[in-house]
Amino acid sequence: MFNKIIRPRRLRISENMRSLVSETNLTVKDFVYPIFVVPGKNIREEIPSMPNCYHLSVDNAVELAKKISALGILAVEVFGLPEYKDEIGSSAWDMTSPVQRAISEIKKAVPELLIVGDVCLCQYTSHGHCGKLCGSYVDNDETLKLLQKVAVSQAAAGADIIAPSDMMDGRIAAIREALDENNFSNVVIMSYAVKYASGFYGPFRDAANSAPQFGDRKQYQMDCANVREALKEVALDIDEGADIIMVKPALAYLDIVSKVRAEINNPVAVYNVSGEYTMVKAAAANGWIDERRIVLESLTSMKRAGADIIITYHAIDAAQWL
Ligand code: PBG
Repeated sequence: MFNKIIRPRRLRISENMRSLVSETNLTVKDFVYPIFVVPGKNIREEIPSMPNCYHLSVDNAVELAKKISALGILAVEVFGLPEYKDEIGSSAWDMTSPVQRAISEIKKAVPELLIVGDVCLCQYTSHGHCGKLCGSYVDNDETLKLLQKVAVSQAAAGADIIAPSDMMDGRIAAIREALDENNFSNVVIMSYAVKYASGFYGPFRDAANSAPQFGDRKQYQMDCANVREALKEVALDIDEGADIIMVKPALAYLDIVSKVRAEINNPVAVYNVSGEYTMVKAAAANGWIDERRIVLESLTSMKRAGADIIITYHAIDAAQWL
């Protein structure tokens, strides 16, 4: 009497059947692992706000890069704490700074591992804003000239991918021009095109010592209420020459990822940011959730939403679980 029932459950009957019809395949090749480099030697200190993430001196960053590559992870993103800070963030383009040294040492030790350089000034300025100040306003066009220097210095150190996270207008065109003029026309630009002003960056700002000393970043990072504006930012950055488009943060913004994916043909990246990571770590440490299950489910959701690339502090664990 029930012969008209259509039975979706047939395709869920066993692990192999489910795998056979799976629509989304999360792999280690999707991940980029962020690292934090600091001045000094033989330093490996756990970051208080980010369990199981470390401040590493360049020598230890190289050792970690070897392990990451051996796990099958294709890329690392390098963030740094500089030796000195000033008004314009000049340590951001100093070739002797930890980031530039880490990029070049990792490239030497593990040439096939792709290196992403985060281009921004907030870790390097005394005031913690992402650009050059004019009073309390971040001067857009003056900042572009500084970002050009940062991008070129990271490319000169050996970065394969330049990832500007500052949210100044016109930065992709400015950086593309500077890279090309310096014979880095094959260096890829991964734009943090859609970067929201987000509370989820809190633990990173402690880790990178990059919190703004006054005000917030809402005059340059996006309002979480907006989606059309995200598509506008994406269109502008593609027009200016961005190769890869990033949406950040990830979990609370998967609707944006899916809309961006539908709109463009460039690869799409998501940044599964520090606050998203620490919420999982904290709940897992309390025994409230199954960490492995939650992490793999979240990362699969990012892929399902349309991400080709996932920048995540869970990369090392997830690589071992997959
Ligand atoms: C630098 C930058 C930030 C992050 C990546 N690059 C912080 C910020 O914009 O305040 C956040 C990454 C994370 O939270 O994991 N501008």
